[in-house]
Amino acid sequence: MLSYRHAFHAGNFADVLKHATLALVIDALRRKEAGFCYIDTHAGAGRYDLFSEQANKTGEWREGIGRLWNLQDIPQEFDSYLAAVRAVNDEELRYYPGSPRVVRHLLRPQDRMVLLELHTSELPLLQQEFAGDAQVRVEHADCQISLKAYLPPRERRGLVFIDPSYEIKTEYDMVVQLLRESHQRWASGCYAIWYPILNRPSVDRLHRQLRGTGIRKILVAELGIRADNNPGGMNGCGMALVNPPYQLDAQLATLLPWLSRTLGAEEGAACRAEWLAPE
Ligand SMILES: C[S@@+](CC[C@H](N)C(=O)[O-])C[C@H]1O[C@@H](n2cnc3c(N)ncnc32)[C@H](O)[C@@H]1O
Repeated sequence: MLSYRHAFHAGNFADVLKHATLALVIDALRRKEAGFCYIDTHAGAGRYDLFSEQANKTGEWREGIGRLWNLQDIPQEFDSYLAAVRAVNDEELRYYPGSPRVVRHLLRPQDRMVLLELHTSELPLLQQEFAGDAQVRVEHADCQISLKAYLPPRERRGLVFIDPSYEIKTEYDMVVQLLRESHQRWASGCYAIWYPILNRPSVDRLHRQLRGTGIRKILVAELGIRADNNPGGMNGCGMALVNPPYQLDAQLATLLPWLSRTLGAEEGAACRAEWLAPE
C-alpha cells in the first residue's frame, strides 16, 4: 500500500537539489543536435499547488524554492531550472513543477519522455498534466517491471531518473537492483538516483552497494541542511549520477556551497560532489 504523496514535500530543499541537477544534465544533453529520451521511473503528479492544504501543512517549500524565488544574483547554471519553475507561474510563486514538468520545459521537438507512475491518486493528475502531448508517454506501471521495456531507448541518448520516496526500507536495495539491471541493458545511458540523508550509516551502505555493482563513472552530489547525525528527519539529500555529463562534477562542486548557504544550511552540514566510482 503506497501512502506517500509528494504534494506535502513539493518544492522543498530536496526538490531544489534534484530538479536543479536534472536541469543541468538536460542542458548538457541539449548541446548535441540528436534527440534524447528522458525516463522518469517515479514520476509523481507532474505539478503541485503550493497553496494546497497538503503543501501548507508542512510548509517545506518555503525553505526550498521559496528561498530562491525572489532572489537576485543567482548563478546562471540555475537558469534552466528556474525557467521551468517560472513557466508554471505568473508573478507570484503558486505552483511547483515536478521532475516531469521541469524536464518537459527543456525538451526540444526531437526529444521525448516516458513517465512511469504506480500510484492511482497521482496517475490521473499526471495524465491530465500531459494530455495530448505527443512527446510524452505516461504509463501506469511498476518501474521494477516496466522500465526494462524502454531500455535502451531508440535514441541511444538520454537520462533515466530514479526517485522513490524511500517510505519502504527495501527501496534502497530496489534502486541498486534497478540500476544494475538497467545498466546491463544500456551501459552508456545516464542515470540519476535521488536519495535522502537520514544518517551517515544508511548513506554509506547505499554507496557500498552502488560501488558493489562494479559500474564505473558514478558521481555523488550531496546537499546537507543539518549535521548528518541529527536524529529524526531528513538532514540532507544526494544524487548519484552514472555517466554524468562532462564537467558536471566541477559545476556541482561550485554550485552546492552556494545552494547550501542560500537554503540556510546549519553549521556542521556538509555538501560534496565527488566520484564514488571513477572511470
Ligand atoms: C518522490 S515521488 C516522485 C517525485 C517526482 N519524481 C518529482 O521529482 O517531482 C515518488 C513517486 O513514485 C511513485 N512510486 C512508488 N513506487 C513506484 C513504483 N514501483 N513504480 C512507479 N512509481 C512508483 C509514488 O507513487 C510517488 O508518486
